[in-house]
Amino acid sequence: MTQPINVLILAAGLGTRMKSARAKVLHRLGSRPLIAHVLDAALALDPEQIVVVVGHQAEQVEAAAREALAGRGAERLRFVTQAEQRGTGHAVMSARASLAGARGALVVLYGDAPLIRAETLRRLVAEHERGAHAATLLTTEVADPRGYGRIIRDGGGSLERIVEEKDATPAEREVREINPGFYCFEVGALLPALDRLTTRNAQGEYYLTDIPELLRRGGGTVGTVFHEAAEELLGINTRAELAAAWGRLRRATLDRLMAAGVTIVDPDSTYIDAGVEVGADTVIHPQVVIEGASRLGRECEIYSWTRLTNVEIGDNCRVLNGCVLADARLAARNSVGPFAHLRMGAELSEEAVVGNFVEVKKSRLGRKTKAMHLTYLGDATLGERVNIGAGTVTCNYDGKRKHPTVIEDDVKIGSDTMLVAPVRVGRGSVSGAGSVITKDVPPDSLVAGVPAQIKKQIIHEGHEEARK
Ligand code: UD1
Ligand code: CA
Repeated sequence: MTQPINVLILAAGLGTRMKSARAKVLHRLGSRPLIAHVLDAALALDPEQIVVVVGHQAEQVEAAAREALAGRGAERLRFVTQAEQRGTGHAVMSARASLAGARGALVVLYGDAPLIRAETLRRLVAEHERGAHAATLLTTEVADPRGYGRIIRDGGGSLERIVEEKDATPAEREVREINPGFYCFEVGALLPALDRLTTRNAQGEYYLTDIPELLRRGGGTVGTVFHEAAEELLGINTRAELAAAWGRLRRATLDRLMAAGVTIVDPDSTYIDAGVEVGADTVIHPQVVIEGASRLGRECEIYSWTRLTNVEIGDNCRVLNGCVLADARLAARNSVGPFAHLRMGAELSEEAVVGNFVEVKKSRLGRKTKAMHLTYLGDATLGERVNIGAGTVTCNYDGKRKHPTVIEDDVKIGSDTMLVAPVRVGRGSVSGAGSVITKDVPPDSLVAGVPAQIKKQIIHEGHEEARK
């Protein structure tokens, strides 16, 4: 691609057929909103700018778009508001001011077609440049064209115009070649053509789909790129289509991972977001969900009913049944669970182990440190080879603020120890079961609470008999 590329995404509509209070582009495919998927494809074209037309729930759509490209190109985003939705052509008109200074090609996409691959858009742009067209669009063929604009070609096979379903004659409705809604325009030709759009049609809207015909009449050429794989191009209008699209994307992701050497025991019950990376010889058991920007290493084993969100997991780790990990990091050779909860920057160094019913929040465990049972570690920093006994709690919250706990190398914390933060336990120290530690403990100390005392003997009726 030689000329500069701009992208325009139309995302102002509510999406009535979703029967939702939420704007359609905010509905999620996997863990990410539709608009995020479209933005990924747009960004891959390395555009000068990505202009998003917003209307319904403009603020939320804007926030979702910024989040989708955070740290990757959010600075290329521009937003324009289309207060009243008067058609796809009108949406493009609302962006006129943002496009006035643009040069080169303008790729126009709808925010509700999330499966589009960057590769396909590149083919569209390549044909646009090759033919030096005023406009170029993707077309495809479907068995049931209902709801789509139909592609009407002249005797020579060139595109004559697009006719919307509601404006089509019975004969035109028979056409199965449709407009999936992916366009590339020469900016300089598009902007003046917008002035010539009218609302003289069945829906009383400004149709973007009238532009190709206008450009052709004005002497420009209109190119088409036929795309065989219709599923990739289909827009989402209903919840059923949303589920079907997620199914296709999910399957494609699982196929990619299996081809790369990952064992997925039951693809039908495994839900992995499109961007997730997993190393070879990792085994994923049934009913696992892996979301967001997650990366798993090689030879890991992820057991059933576990949900991993934005995790980074090194090689040879095991996550046992029923764990929830979000924004967590396992270095390598770690074991977690069953039934563990790691969140908000929880971090395990090599060979650290977190066992049953343990919650780790915003805490770091050093090498070979273990917390095996029934424990809460929050805002804590643990050194190497620390052992945390069952039922230990970092009391990190005083009702107003969170405070840190530091446990140095080789400390042994006895069962049911309460660490009242802020507090530090020096290296090599040992705490007895049931200790309540409220002050810093110097290195190599033994701290112990008051042990329970025998107060009296209880005589139970009938027990004397049984003891004989
Ligand atoms: C559109 C096309 C149709 C095509 C189909 C593919 C037109 C006139 N028709 O129809 O040829 O086959 O897509 O899915 O373009 N939008 C706005 N502002 C508006 C209207 C729409 O931002 O005023 C946005 C919507 O939020 C949506 C996209 O444009 O993301 C498409 O709008 P939609 O109403 O779904 O168009 P279709 O009727 O499906
Ligand atoms: Ca649509």
